[in-house]
Amino acid sequence: MMEERHITAIVLAAGKGNRMCSETPKQYMDLCGKPVLYYSLKRFEDSRVDDIVLVTGKDELEYCRTEIVGKYHFCKVKAIVAGGSERYWSVKNGLDAATGTDYVLIHDAARPCLTEDIIERSIIEVLKSGACTVGVPVKDTIKLVDDNNIGIDTPPRNQLWQVQTPQSFSYGDIVEAYIRMEKAGDTDITDDTMIMERYLDKKTKLILGDYCNIKITTPEDLSVAEIFLKKMKKSC
Ligand code: CTP
Ligand code: MG
Repeated sequence: MMEERHITAIVLAAGKGNRMCSETPKQYMDLCGKPVLYYSLKRFEDSRVDDIVLVTGKDELEYCRTEIVGKYHFCKVKAIVAGGSERYWSVKNGLDAATGTDYVLIHDAARPCLTEDIIERSIIEVLKSGACTVGVPVKDTIKLVDDNNIGIDTPPRNQLWQVQTPQSFSYGDIVEAYIRMEKAGDTDITDDTMIMERYLDKKTKLILGDYCNIKITTPEDLSVAEIFLKKMKKSC
């Protein structure tokens, strides 16, 4: 019989949301009557992950404890920890709070349209290959440009995917990759699959996410997320 593996979701909500241009950080803004952060916590709470680590701003720990985790009875949240100045430092703090787990699903709280299917597909794949991310094939032609915005290349569209979260890894591997990244003093990091490629030479499997799994980044994204959530019905 296969040994039970422990799976932890790390939900990142420690950003400032500068591109949203709102006083309230976007993860706490109202979306269909609940804070944006509620939706991804709810999906993980209802999934087969064993527990959840919530990473938030140091001044918002108490708010999250009472107004989100307490209020909505998210029993799987085992730790609420402060994030760092960059997303990867927030991930690092989340990983530190997840010691003892076997696998982590790292997710942006700014993606409230996460679905049960996405979580399930991520779990199945990470148990198999040890490193996966959800994403979607790009719909537009993508141009590589030079410093003057002159198009210098057009990569073949059938090889291009837009990456989303959750990004899922074997805990030991991602922790080791972070240790090496920290030692190297790298700052040019935009996601965790990049850290695995650079510091562990480990390839990540891309699996299908959902075109609805958008990241709320600028104000118009909120209206789009509202439409998608209403379509998902049970979320609102
Ligand atoms: N995040 C985080 N810690 C940081 C930066 C980002 O936990 N230091 C989280 C955000 O809260 C968000 C996710 O990472 O859920 C994706 O980041 P992004 O969309 O860039 O959010 P912000 O950094 O908050 O937004 P902006 O870049 O516009 O300031
Ligand atoms: Mg950011």
